[in-house]
Amino acid sequence: MLKKQVGIIGMAIMGFNLSLNIEKHGYNVSIFNRSREKTDKIIFENPKKKLFPYYTIQEFVFSLQNPRFIILMVQAGKVTDYFLDLLEPFLEEKDIIMDGGNSFYKDTIRREKKLLKKNINYIGAGISGGEEGALNGPAIMPGGKKYIYEFISPVLKKIAAKTSKGEACVTYIGPNGSGHYVKMIHNAIEYANMQLISEIYFLFKKIFNFNNNYIANIFTKWNQGELNSYLLKITCNILVKKDEKNDFLLDKILDIADNKGTGKWAIHEALDLNEPLTIATESIFSRYISVLKKERIQASKIFFGTKKTIKKYPKNIKVYIEKMRKALYLSIIISYTQGFSQLRNASNTKKWNLNCKKIAKIFRKGCIIQAKILKEIINSYENNIKTTNFFLEPYFKNISNTYQQSLRDVIIYAIQHGIPIPALSSAINYYDNYRTKFLPSNLIQAQRDYFGSHYYQRIDKSGNFHTKWAE
Ligand code: 6PG
Repeated sequence: MLKKQVGIIGMAIMGFNLSLNIEKHGYNVSIFNRSREKTDKIIFENPKKKLFPYYTIQEFVFSLQNPRFIILMVQAGKVTDYFLDLLEPFLEEKDIIMDGGNSFYKDTIRREKKLLKKNINYIGAGISGGEEGALNGPAIMPGGKKYIYEFISPVLKKIAAKTSKGEACVTYIGPNGSGHYVKMIHNAIEYANMQLISEIYFLFKKIFNFNNNYIANIFTKWNQGELNSYLLKITCNILVKKDEKNDFLLDKILDIADNKGTGKWAIHEALDLNEPLTIATESIFSRYISVLKKERIQASKIFFGTKKTIKKYPKNIKVYIEKMRKALYLSIIISYTQGFSQLRNASNTKKWNLNCKKIAKIFRKGCIIQAKILKEIINSYENNIKTTNFFLEPYFKNISNTYQQSLRDVIIYAIQHGIPIPALSSAINYYDNYRTKFLPSNLIQAQRDYFGSHYYQRIDKSGNFHTKWAE
């Protein structure tokens, strides 16, 4: 019996589409799913594809050529461990498991260690791009042993998204859990950008009373320029989508946003690394507040908004729309800045030697945060190979200095109208904190020393000092 080159476990939409993607590139693919029905349905509906169904893990494993290459596309967490336990007795030395789910990077490190004891190789690969990406080309972020990556890279390079110049959006990220770490940061930027776009949409809707078509037109224009991104593009499509009654579907969607945890992990990690990942954090907290729908309804009846009467429209609406565009662009830049800053920090702390330029390059296509801005990030890394933070490089310096006033104006306007803009405000606060040479942290040091004898440092002499403040 002909042995298959790749095996995929998990036939939910991501796993199924990834199987089709791999098959399309000339590979024979063994597939396995927990419930037999789904496998049967897939085979029934795709009779001509080189997808081969197996109904026991043993048969599935034995159907693969050595060393086996098995991709896990199952729910992150316990389900991943469940399948690894099922697989382990049938695996042999040198076999390769690649976890393509949204696993927590510390789980990936633990799993790799465990399997390595039996000489079984483990790759933790972040895969981004949703259903469409899995089918037609995702961005892939594999972490683990480099020579194992090299071994499977021909497959990964074929199935990954390609840039307009044909570069595959996959690269070796680094050792152990670093691939999943990078995916976690990708998601933090994803959360931040989604929230930022939503806040601008909300301002257009609530203050200017623009309808969905009008907002979509503005976003479509913006998307032709420096703000060009996948998230803005899908937002335009969402805005104009009609339901069965020919009403805007978006207007009928409940305002409660859930999450699956990757953003939360990114914040935990930010706290552990002393990293100010503020926009993503505000974005998640906004989702949490959205969940308090019942309380919000109650509060909406008892709490006042602004009492100030402000004209509905600013004098020159076009000027204001342009301010909004600049505010969004600068905030999005800051969200990438924060994400990449955390990557740099994690890389140093965990000795992963991450290459931020290469990471920016694989984000250019296939993934959710693909955007034109990545070109500028890559240019900045290329123009100054010693740079630690692209935000300090000329392009970003110029944009920041030119656009910061717009961001301020938009925020002031929103606050005067009582419209919540946590992510936009967080962006300007980060900017102002970051560019301020002398912060009020001198007072924090003094307070800590006052009540807790925590000592403080001085600017005029070195050493640690304590003062009996009350005497
Ligand atoms: C991607 C996405 C994806 C993620 C969803 C849901 O890159 O394709 O990041 O992996 O699972 O966006 O995330 P939340 O449910 O946490 O919003």
